[in-house]
Amino acid sequence: MIIYIVLLALVALVCYSMFINRIKGLPPGPPPLPVLGNLHQFEMDLSKKFSGWKKNYGKVFTIWMPNPTVVITDHKLMQEHIIKDGDKFGDRVNPKEMMNLLVGGEYGLLFNENKMWREQRRFALHALRNVGYNSATMQDTAINYAQDIISRWKEQSAGGRPVDVTMGLMVGVANIVWQQTFGRTLPYDDPLLEKVKELTQNLLEKMKHPIITALDPFPFLCHFDGLLGSPIKAMAAVNSEILQLLEDELKLVEKHFNEDEAPKCYADAFIGEMKRREAKGEELGSYTRIQLVAACYDLWTAGFETTVTTLRTIIHFMINNPEVQRRAQREIDEKIGKRTIHMEDQKILHYCNAVIQEVQRLEGIAPLSLPRLVSEPVNIDGYDIPVGTAVIPEYSLIHLDENEYERPDFFCPERHINDKGEFVKDPRITPFSVGKRACLGEGLARMELFIYFSTYIQHLTFSSVGKVPPRLNVQIFFTRSPAPFDVLISSRN
Ligand code: HEM
Repeated sequence: MIIYIVLLALVALVCYSMFINRIKGLPPGPPPLPVLGNLHQFEMDLSKKFSGWKKNYGKVFTIWMPNPTVVITDHKLMQEHIIKDGDKFGDRVNPKEMMNLLVGGEYGLLFNENKMWREQRRFALHALRNVGYNSATMQDTAINYAQDIISRWKEQSAGGRPVDVTMGLMVGVANIVWQQTFGRTLPYDDPLLEKVKELTQNLLEKMKHPIITALDPFPFLCHFDGLLGSPIKAMAAVNSEILQLLEDELKLVEKHFNEDEAPKCYADAFIGEMKRREAKGEELGSYTRIQLVAACYDLWTAGFETTVTTLRTIIHFMINNPEVQRRAQREIDEKIGKRTIHMEDQKILHYCNAVIQEVQRLEGIAPLSLPRLVSEPVNIDGYDIPVGTAVIPEYSLIHLDENEYERPDFFCPERHINDKGEFVKDPRITPFSVGKRACLGEGLARMELFIYFSTYIQHLTFSSVGKVPPRLNVQIFFTRSPAPFDVLISSRN
């Protein structure tokens, strides 16, 4: 009897795994297990797994995480749905448990409640634009930091000493984010910068714990924290230090708030909106204190690590491809000389743009794009996808698609230069994602990448410490970032 039950259960399991996508009318995909879905097949470097599934199941496939998630890996389909029909793909699948632990609910800009994201995203874009998010002032901040960092790197590398460029890159990027969020910049040696860096790294470390990563699919795990070595408690402790730090900065903004002056930063604009509503006796709506703290948290987390990682990756590519660095430097020497580089120079520094685009194509900064939720019925590639299904626009697979690029894994900035020697922006390369939930800081990030990269190589040459440059050992968590590496720096002045 038991044998029959076991056999029956096995048959049911096989049928479930083999036919569940077909029964639900979803695109094919790797057979899922009940409860776990395909989560047991996940590994740190998901890009390899996903490109394998793309080869096996085609340009649109379904994975279960543990809920069914449709993955789009084709440029035309991404254009047709996520971009042109973007309103239907604006909601997110929020990691509710994690958000509860970090900020007390679905607040902020990345994972806020789906009913409030439009209002808060619009407000953030507007407020950031008004405070000169992408303005000449912000550019000047980047230029000044670049000059300061260059002179510090020159000192640090005196006598041929190897340098880890991470701290310098962090200072430049951190200050841009700090200025637009809290309205002030910090000097290079300000201990607050070191503290923010340490806390962010510490939090990321704590978040890597398997129990923490499994919390959202399996929320009951939080009841066993003590039994499992208290990883949740440890993460919460670091997180509360970060929240305290954000609160301290916000107190400073509140102290200097002046309603007769134009807002100086995102927090200033938000506080102004709260006060305006209070004064008029209006509902605060989504303009709450908790939303303010969470949004500042998001501007920091989304804007810092991503930009630093991309700049580190660019420098890594430079030491591995010295001829590319020389060509970019030649272009700067010929077209700019020693004068300060500004954003208008993007129009003439074709090769520098090509280098940045090529690094961003290969970098694949996000190990997995953030899933969106379908808010109206859609038909993708012949499949009717019901409301509430998760969809991932996995653009990083397009960046490495053999049907799109010749030798896709080969680093070749020249592929972005046309016959006239001009840079060609490639719509298939979308490191800031696509559609309504694409990166809110894209303009600012593009400014930082261009100003920092071109200014650094205008004045310095980066080269490998050993005869053989280091391999791109990628560490993967929220971002795919190069493992620590040192460089030799020589002055070009
Ligand atoms: C090289 C640097 C950067 C890269 C590669 C990058 C990339 C991304 C990506 C892939 C997303 C997810 C989009 C999706 O869900 O599909 C995102 C979202 C976001 N990014 Fe960036 N980002 C960068 C810099 C910045 C900066 C400087 C800021 C602002 C200070 C920023 C703020 C945000 C915010 C707030 C979101 C959430 C948008 C939303 O959900 O509506 N990012 N970014």
